[in-house]
Amino acid sequence: MFNLVLFGPPGSGKGTQSERLVEKYGFFHLSTGNLLREEIANKTPLGIEAKKFMDHGQLVPDEVVIGMVDSFFDKHKDAPGFLFDGFPRTVAQAQALDRLLDLRKTEIRVVLALDVSEEELVSRLLNRGKTSGRSDDTNEEVIRKRFLVYSNDTAPVAEYYKKAKKFKSIEGEGSVDEIFAALRQAIDKTMAEV
Ligand code: AP5
Repeated sequence: MFNLVLFGPPGSGKGTQSERLVEKYGFFHLSTGNLLREEIANKTPLGIEAKKFMDHGQLVPDEVVIGMVDSFFDKHKDAPGFLFDGFPRTVAQAQALDRLLDLRKTEIRVVLALDVSEEELVSRLLNRGKTSGRSDDTNEEVIRKRFLVYSNDTAPVAEYYKKAKKFKSIEGEGSVDEIFAALRQAIDKTMAEV
């Protein structure tokens, strides 16, 4: 089983590249943002609670997200490998993910981090906000809050994976095709290292 984390700040292209990587390699896509938005659309108690955090650019509490990931694993026992998008976002989530994978006798093989400047990120998100219907994309203040949360809570996750020698930085500016090619190259290299 080959599991990878696609890492990077809001708007860095995780969702865009995940779609292509899923098509190319057959990974199961686990986006905690998408799972949370589904809960919101279905007006579940979890979704109603999560929306309060998401609308303000804050993280949904770890225990909620980890529980959701655990049940996703239970529903997809035969998955050939997972692509984690937007998860883990705190060191506690990264540690919980290691434990959940260990129970299933597997692990994270590589973390690929998309490197994009903040000005480019803001412009991408405001642009997406014109059509996405995502309440956290339309307000620049909420977007800046998401970046602050990223540097305080999520950036330390990079250090966690650097220590484990699983972290690789990828140039995240350029055309979608160029970035996809760089990601493929890094994945193929890691797969060949078995
Ligand atoms: P989530 O849904 O994970 O959003 P995010 O991390 O903020 O990332 P985005 O979806 O905004 O960006 P992306 O990197 O996927 O970029 P995309 O490909 O869409 O999380 C939302 C919220 O849910 C969080 O704030 C939090 O509240 C909560 N949450 C989720 N997971 C959580 C967790 N684990 N723990 C706690 N809370 C959690 O691209 C962005 C735009 O750029 C698009 O319009 C795209 O077309 C464009 N674009 C992409 N690539 C390029 C390119 N190369 N050049 C130009 N434009 C490009």
